[in-house]
Amino acid sequence: MNGQAQASVHFQVLTVYPDVFSSFLSQGLLGRAIEDGKLEVDLYNFREFGVGKHAKVDDTPYGGGAGMVLRPEPIVETLEQCRKTSGKDRILKVLLSPQGETFNQNKAIEFSQQRNPIALICGRFEGFDERIRSFVDEEISMGDFVLMGGEVAAMGVIESVARLVPGVIGNKESLEQESFGSDLLEYSQYTKPLVYQGMKVPEVLTSGNHRVIEEWRHNDALRKTKTRRPDLYRKFVKSHKESSKS
Ligand SMILES: C[S@@+](CC[C@H](N)C(=O)[O-])C[C@H]1O[C@@H](n2cnc3c(N)ncnc32)[C@H](O)[C@@H]1O
Repeated sequence: MNGQAQASVHFQVLTVYPDVFSSFLSQGLLGRAIEDGKLEVDLYNFREFGVGKHAKVDDTPYGGGAGMVLRPEPIVETLEQCRKTSGKDRILKVLLSPQGETFNQNKAIEFSQQRNPIALICGRFEGFDERIRSFVDEEISMGDFVLMGGEVAAMGVIESVARLVPGVIGNKESLEQESFGSDLLEYSQYTKPLVYQGMKVPEVLTSGNHRVIEEWRHNDALRKTKTRRPDLYRKFVKSHKESSKS
């Protein structure tokens, strides 16, 4: 891997609700990215590998308790189907779960450089039979909250990765400067009108002096990160101390 995003990224989404993706994948920049071949998203309904004549994908938990748990067979067999149809020896198997590592921009960058298809497994009900975890490479969470299913999490992953693929977002600079690009939140942005309900756009931004504007933006990003995300700010300060030593 050379640190650059791939020219295209391939996702395979395992879900029992493939229809929820249809408008998401056909609109705006994502729709265009798919049309242009920069992004590929294949949907796999793991109910097709459901067990028995009712094609069951879930069952009651051993030991009792609320709700239904996803059985391993439909998901594991669908993963094998994903690998076969991809034509590759390997696919990256990612379980979407509140118990996983929290997704972030670094992970999005890593996925955008992935040469193999990325299979995103969307849970439902009370989640996965524990044994499914031995068939996956990674477990990713969207944050410390519980969704009804993994579909919205999969959409978050797909969007954040797709915008890193060269040519998907028109303006390359906006990718470089935005939040998390260098461990900082993005600086404050303003557009018209110049004055809104008594609030004026900072004068420096209308000065036309690009050096001063750049300096103001950098300081604003530092101030914002320090007050809103002290954890991120500490990381930024630490990495800058280290890079100035070397
Ligand atoms: C209702 S949740 C099950 C939660 C499970 N009982 C637990 O406490 O870990 C159903 C599915 O939604 C998805 N999900 C819920 N919250 C998520 C999160 N924060 N990040 C990623 N996926 C999530 C997972 O795929 C999960 O299997």
